[in-house]
Amino acid sequence: MPEGPQQSEIDHPLESLTAEEIATATEVVRDSGRVDARVIFAYVGLEEPSKDVVRSYRPGDPVARQVRILLVTSPRAFVMEVVVSVSTRSIVSWREIPDARPALLFTEAIAVIAALKADGRWQAAMRKRGIDDFSKVQIDPWPAGAFGLEVEADRRLSRCLSYVRDAPGANGYARPVEGVVGFVDMGRAEVLEVTDTGSVPIPPGPGGYFPEDMPGLREDLRPLEIRQPRGPSFSVEGNLVQWQRWSFRVSMDPVEGVVLHRVSYRDQGRDRPILYRASVDEMVVPYGSPDSGHSWKSAFDAGEWGLGRMANSLSLGCDCLGEIYYFDVPYADESGNPQTLRNAICMHEEDFGILWKHTDGYSGRSEVRRSRRLVVSSIATVGNYDYGFYWYFYLDGTMQLEVKLTGILSTQGAHPDHTPPNASMIAPQLAAPLHQHLFNVRLDVEVDGPENCVYEVDVVPEPLGPQNPLGNAFRTTSKMLTSELSARRFIDPSKSRHWKVVNRSATNSLGEAPAYKLVPLSSPTLLAQPGSSIEKRAGFATHHLWVTAYTSEQRRAAGDFPNQHEGGEGVKSWTERDRQLVDTDLVLWHTFGVTHVPRPEDWPVMPVEYTGFSFVPVGFFEGNPALDVPPSGDVGCDPAGGCG
Ligand code: CO
Repeated sequence: MPEGPQQSEIDHPLESLTAEEIATATEVVRDSGRVDARVIFAYVGLEEPSKDVVRSYRPGDPVARQVRILLVTSPRAFVMEVVVSVSTRSIVSWREIPDARPALLFTEAIAVIAALKADGRWQAAMRKRGIDDFSKVQIDPWPAGAFGLEVEADRRLSRCLSYVRDAPGANGYARPVEGVVGFVDMGRAEVLEVTDTGSVPIPPGPGGYFPEDMPGLREDLRPLEIRQPRGPSFSVEGNLVQWQRWSFRVSMDPVEGVVLHRVSYRDQGRDRPILYRASVDEMVVPYGSPDSGHSWKSAFDAGEWGLGRMANSLSLGCDCLGEIYYFDVPYADESGNPQTLRNAICMHEEDFGILWKHTDGYSGRSEVRRSRRLVVSSIATVGNYDYGFYWYFYLDGTMQLEVKLTGILSTQGAHPDHTPPNASMIAPQLAAPLHQHLFNVRLDVEVDGPENCVYEVDVVPEPLGPQNPLGNAFRTTSKMLTSELSARRFIDPSKSRHWKVVNRSATNSLGEAPAYKLVPLSSPTLLAQPGSSIEKRAGFATHHLWVTAYTSEQRRAAGDFPNQHEGGEGVKSWTERDRQLVDTDLVLWHTFGVTHVPRPEDWPVMPVEYTGFSFVPVGFFEGNPALDVPPSGDVGCDPAGGCG
């Protein structure tokens, strides 16, 4: 729908927001006369146009751009959701969303820390432990959770934990002030309560992990360099990426972090769609300790913090190695001013071992190809934890998401010779409660077109009998998930269970419908009790798979506003409608992750732990789509090496 003058530099409806567009949008809000100078811009992101607009867009068509903004205009628990047209510099919609809190605000977090440090009850708790210099205390505001307390109503709350930092660069998580929790109204920077249940001494160890903390560093690691003397094999125009047969757009949302749009693969001259949109739409980190200092901890690191808001500016040779392309990401600060996060998204190619190989025993001829993959990644630091999100594209049509979990454990002080319940000891007098990291990926699929079905495929043994006289036989069983309730599913590694997204309006050369399959890894679901606060709030984490009929407003698996939400929102409630899922526009919501039983080896900073899933073609191509990858000698490997 063209609506007046277009932004000249925008040549596609899914281009990333520019700094100019952000400035225009927030200016329109400020100039509306409906907000005062204290307004906080809690979210500023592209309001994506409808799929019809995007699919029918042709180069040169006018682009109408809209920005979705969440405003905080008071200390109370409501937000304003505003949609601004930057094309016409006008407000498209403005509505108050009652009983909703945005992700935690940085400006408020800073005020909360100052308020708690000035509070007599908190100061008394510190002095009781011999801490007189409050500048040496690190305070971490956490999302407060929702427990049906009267005090929670109409407030934006935080629970705050304290840590001793003897020096500015010290590791505070080594020295938790156990038993002290500050309960603070974030909107008003008002300390409501300080609880002190503690008699646990502050752990003694420094938990250092900097080079200068080490008695010595290894001296036998020699340089490993990655060179691409003729440059990388991808091209970038705006946010459009093309690599080998793959084509997609990439952007960063303040909540979801990296978003992939319109992923397609060129096959025999035809761009075949696979995914309309893919992102990590939510994640939750519920803790398994009943201790009052830890039992309320269950951070939604996407919805309560924001994987894009917490994204790092990445550095060459450290976060990413090789011929790197960085996307800078414009964003709005909480005052609505455009800022740019440099090097927010990293993209490069990686060698990935062998792609395929066979040595023919008769002729002795050996044929092998190197695998390489395109990596699109970002890293979010959410308090103590760091999460790397890596989308991989392979030469054989496979996609994969890998999440790398690292950073520092959320710690708990312990009495000497006593391990707190539901926790592991990781260092002297230092424990870490058991917890989970459960991610949800939203896959808005369009496998060979917008209308798809999902089949659950198991591989099962055949019973003994005339059909299976030797008892060796096994076969696949395939069941269509025809409606939303029937599509609430669990993984089953013993049956090699996977989920196929099928387009029944197309046929491959074997006369079958082309498909991509979601291949899960072994992964837990939520361990909290049914009916518990976190089970109601993180309903998405109670199954590994949900499938919904596409609805544009259904963006996040725990709803748009999980912060302090009592629960019942999101994919679990949407699927109660039990809509039909046959030959229609579908969204898959896959929950995956890890249950973390902390180890001493995870301290003081954790070696990366991996989780994720793959999205793999099944009958989508005629045979191995990577037979035409040339031998390595033809793409610049050392010819003296003699491969290929
Ligand atoms: Co963990």
